Amino acid sequence: MKTFKAYRVHTIGGKPVCKFEQLTMDDLDKGDVVIETAYSAITYKDAMAARGVGKNVRTDRPCVTGVDLSGTVISSADPRFREGDKVAVTNYKLGVNQDGGYADYARVPGDWVVPLPNGLSLYEAMGLGTSGLTAALAVDRLEKAGVKPEQGLLGVSGATGGVGSLAVNMFAKRGFEVAAISGKKDQEGFLRKIGASKILSREDLLTDKAPLAPPLFAAAMDNVGGVYFDRLAARLQPYGKLAVAGMAVGAELSTSVLPWVLRAVDVLGINVSRQLHMDERKRLWARMATDLKPDHLAEISRPIPFEKLDETMDRFFNVTVVGRVVVEVGSKAP
Ligand SMILES: NC(=O)c1ccc[n+]([C@@H]2O[C@H](COP(=O)([O-])OP(=O)(O)OC[C@H]3O[C@@H](n4cnc5c(N)ncnc54)[C@H](OP(=O)(O)O)[C@@H]3O)[C@@H](O)[C@H]2O)c1
Repeated sequence: MKTFKAYRVHTIGGKPVCKFEQLTMDDLDKGDVVIETAYSAITYKDAMAARGVGKNVRTDRPCVTGVDLSGTVISSADPRFREGDKVAVTNYKLGVNQDGGYADYARVPGDWVVPLPNGLSLYEAMGLGTSGLTAALAVDRLEKAGVKPEQGLLGVSGATGGVGSLAVNMFAKRGFEVAAISGKKDQEGFLRKIGASKILSREDLLTDKAPLAPPLFAAAMDNVGGVYFDRLAARLQPYGKLAVAGMAVGAELSTSVLPWVLRAVDVLGINVSRQLHMDERKRLWARMATDLKPDHLAEISRPIPFEKLDETMDRFFNVTVVGRVVVEVGSKAP
C-alpha cells in the first residue's frame, strides 16, 4: 500500500513525542473528503499541541497535527466536492482531535471544507488560514458595529504575530490609521511596511495604569489579553469598540468597569472555531480574496520546508516569530 509522510504527536507517559512517520490512508481518521495537502501553517495552537502545553491535542492515540491546510481534493463521498477542487480547512477539530494538515494527505468531514475562492492560491490560503480568518472577522465585526476610519486611530496589540500582522494590513487596506502595539523594537520597519502609521511599544501602552486613561483609540483589536485588554479598554474614546481575539499572555482579566460605565465602550468577541457558521466562514474567505486580501501577504507569510516544522515550533514560545509561517507539506502547487 502507498505510504506518505506525516508529522504526528504521540502521548507517551503523559508527554508529547512528535515524529515524522510514513503512514497509509488506513492510518488517517475517517472523513468524506480526501485532500492532497499542499500547504499547512504553524499557529500557537500547533506549538502547544507539539510541546504538550495546555493539553489541546488528543492523548488516547496519535494525531497528525496542523490546524490549517490547503490542498486539492482527490476523492469525495460528499457531492459538494469533486476531484481537482482547490480547498482549505481550518479549525473545527482539525489537528487536535482529527488528523490535520501536517501530512501529504488529509481525510476530513465535508462540512469542514471551504472551496477556495477565486483570487487566492493554495499558498496564499495558508498565508491567511486561521490567523487571516481571525483578523478578517475582527475587521468585519468592527465595521458592522459602525467603526469608520475618520473616527480616529485603531490599535492592534501583538502586532507582529500571525493574527496581528494580518490585522494591521487588513485594517490599513480598509483605510484605517493603524497603531501597531508590539514588543519587538526591531520590527518597526516591517510594521510600517505592512500598513502601520504609528508604532507603540508595550511600555507605551502599559505605563499609564489609570482605570480611565486619556483616550487614544477609536477602536482596537486585542490579540494578547490580560493587562493589554485592560489598557486598550481604558484608552478607548467614548463609544469606542474593542475586538477581543487572543490571550497570548493568558485568559485572566483584571480590569475596571469604568470604560463601560463612563465611556460606553463595546467589547466584541472574536471566535473562528467551529462555532463560526460555514456561511460566515465562506463569506469571510471571499472577503479575504477581495477587499480584505492583504497587500503585503508575501512579506507577512514565510514558507518553511516540511522538514523544518519541529525546530520552528519553539520560536512561538520565545516570541521570535514574525508574521505567519507557511509549511510546504506536499505539492508545491501555487
Ligand atoms: N479568537 C480566535 O478565534 C482565535 C483564532 C486564532 C488565534 N487566536 C489567539 O490569538 C492570539 C494570537 O495568535 P497568533 O497566531 O497571532 O500568535 P503569535 O503569532 O504567537 O503572536 C502573538 C503575538 O502576541 C505578542 N505576545 C506574545 N507573548 C506576549 C507577552 N508575553 N506579552 C506581550 N505580548 C506578547 C507578540 O507580538 P509582539 O511581539 O508584536 O508584541 C506575538 O507575536 C493567541 O492568543 C491565539 O490563541 C484566537
